Amino acid sequence: MRNNPSEIAAKTAEKFRRTAQLAAREGILPYKSAEGRWITSPYDGNSWWTGGFWPGLMWQLFCATGEEAFKQEALRAEAMLTAEFRSFRYLNHDVGFMYLLSCGAHDKLLGDEQASMDTLHAATLLMGRYSPAGYIRAWNEKHKMGYAIIDCMMNLSLLFRASRITDDPRFAKVACLHADRTMQEFIRENGSVAHIVEFDPQTGARVGEVAGQGYALGSSWSRGQAWGLYGFTLAYLNTQDARYLETAQRVARYFIANIREDGLTDSDFCQPAGEVRIDNMAGAIAACGLLELEKATGEAAYRTAAERLLDGIIDHCCDFSDAICGVLTHCTASYHDDGAGRHTNITYGDYFFVEALAKLNGTDPMLWI
Ligand code: GLY
Repeated sequence: MRNNPSEIAAKTAEKFRRTAQLAAREGILPYKSAEGRWITSPYDGNSWWTGGFWPGLMWQLFCATGEEAFKQEALRAEAMLTAEFRSFRYLNHDVGFMYLLSCGAHDKLLGDEQASMDTLHAATLLMGRYSPAGYIRAWNEKHKMGYAIIDCMMNLSLLFRASRITDDPRFAKVACLHADRTMQEFIRENGSVAHIVEFDPQTGARVGEVAGQGYALGSSWSRGQAWGLYGFTLAYLNTQDARYLETAQRVARYFIANIREDGLTDSDFCQPAGEVRIDNMAGAIAACGLLELEKATGEAAYRTAAERLLDGIIDHCCDFSDAICGVLTHCTASYHDDGAGRHTNITYGDYFFVEALAKLNGTDPMLWI
C-alpha cells in the first residue's frame, strides 16, 4: 500500500478527538457534516438506519487508542438508539446496522448485561420481520410488504449473534433461510447484485426486481455490490458454509473488475460514461469485505484490491482540515436523490474507512460477529 495505514489512522483519530465533542455538545447523533457542523439524519429521526455507525466509529477509535472519551461518546449514542425501541414505528430490518454497532459492540467489548439484553431485543425485532413466505421484509410501507434488499445481508449478523448468546438456533436458522433466498434471487450470472427484489407476500414467488438507490432498474448500485460482498463474507464467517464464501467471491470478482483507475468507486457500475457520481462509502465497505476475504482464503489479490481502494480514498478523498467534521469526502447516499447527501461526508463512510484501517493495523474488534 502506498500510504501508511497507521499514520492515516492516527490522523483520523486526531480529527474525531476534536469533532466528537461537537456532537456531544449538540446532543445529536451525527449523520453527515456540512459547513463545519454535524447534521442529524434527514429522515425518521434517531430511527434512521445509520444511527449505529456513530457509536460504532467511537468503539473503533476506543479500541485503536484506548481513550475513555471515545467510549463515553459511544455510550451516549447507544442510549439515544435504545430509546428508539419504545417508539418502534420507524424501526425496520436495519436494526442490525443500528444495534450491532451500539449495544452489540458495548456487550462484545465490555460484557455489559443490559447491552446484551438490548442486543437480543433488536434481534427479536429482526426475527419478527421474517415472513414464512421465505424472506426478511425490509421496510414498513404497505406497498413494500414483499420487498427484500441486499443490504439485509449485513443485518443477518445480528441473528447469528443472538443464537450464540442464547444457544437458541432459531435466529441463525432464519438468517440462513434469508441468505439462501438472497443467494438464489439477487445474484446475477456475472456476479453483480440486485438491490431490491419483490416477493409475493402470500406465496413467496419472486415478483421481480425493483429499482432502488442505483442508476436504473437492472443496474449495479455499487453500495449494493459492497453489501453483498461483505454480507456474504460475514454469512460465511458466521456459518463456515462454503456456498456463502463462493458467493462472496463471485461478487468480489465483479466489484474488483469495476474499481476505477484512480481507486475510487462510481456510485453505480452501470452509470453513463462521463457521469461524475462517486460513492466512496461503497469502496470503504468493499475494502472491509475484501480484507476479510483475504483472511478467509489466503488469496493476496483481495488485499491488493482493498489497498487500491483505500489508497484511492486517501489520495483523493480524505479531508483532515476543520472544513468538515468527518474525514471521507465524496460519499453519495443515493444515485437519484441528493437529499440524503451527494459527494459529501457521511458517517457510515467514515465508519467503514476506520474499520478498514483498523483491520490493516490489527486493532479491529470485528463488531459484526
Ligand atoms: N442500507 C441503505 C443504504 O445503503 O443506503
